[in-house]
Amino acid sequence: MAIGVLVLAAGSGSRLGAAVPKAFVRVGDSSLLGYAVRSALATREVACVVVAAPAGWLDAAIDETEPLSRAHGIPVQVVPGGAERGDSVLAAVRWLPQECDIVLVHDAARAFAPPELFDRVAAAVTAAHPAVVPGEPVIDTIKVVDEAGIVVATPERSALRVVQTPQGFRRDVLLRAHHEHGSLASDDAGLVERLGLPVLVIPGDGRALKVTTPDDLDRAHRLAQALAPDVGPERR
Ligand code: CTP
Ligand code: MG
Repeated sequence: MAIGVLVLAAGSGSRLGAAVPKAFVRVGDSSLLGYAVRSALATREVACVVVAAPAGWLDAAIDETEPLSRAHGIPVQVVPGGAERGDSVLAAVRWLPQECDIVLVHDAARAFAPPELFDRVAAAVTAAHPAVVPGEPVIDTIKVVDEAGIVVATPERSALRVVQTPQGFRRDVLLRAHHEHGSLASDDAGLVERLGLPVLVIPGDGRALKVTTPDDLDRAHRLAQALAPDVGPERR
């Protein structure tokens, strides 16, 4: 089965507040986009990567990804994203070649998710799960509150997971979920749940943390340093 990876990089990064869109923020030797595309290209059986970039940043995204594409011998298509994350998913997925029957959807903001995580997600989809998300156990106790701040429930912590990307889908399932349940989802798997299909959670990876605020960048710098010896087109 051929795998296509969508790398979503079209957001502005308003909570990060950098001078450039978040995916173009540099950490060590590369932009966040560069790290994310490197991992995507190192996924087993990957046939194509599509990057959704902000309008006005398409050339920058091509400059960033073309050398990586050439080094891996795998096409990377850069396309304009949409107003919301879900719009970017739909804008990108249509560029995947027909042969890609498994689609991994990945946030460029989770730049340090390792190729091994992409492989595990894809393997679970290949093993007949229509939707697969990586998730980590919850450390804090979570409360559900009403508008007045009064606690209405305390979910059993052992049953909770914090989910990450890449999330993996059968292509037909991803398309149906987005077409039937709108574009306002920050979580593609949530749309699949609304179709009534099972979503499998597999173990996540601490390196798949999302860069959202300036504090997260400090952790990203540490992850980049840990990667430093094998960063480069030959990294796997
Ligand atoms: N994204 C996208 N298209 C959008 C919005 C978001 O491709 N219209 C991407 C972002 O580039 C990011 C991922 O979706 O890699 C997760 O979104 P988030 O972390 O919220 O990034 P931003 O929307 O850029 O950040 P913020 O919400 O702080 O503005
Ligand atoms: Mg956002």
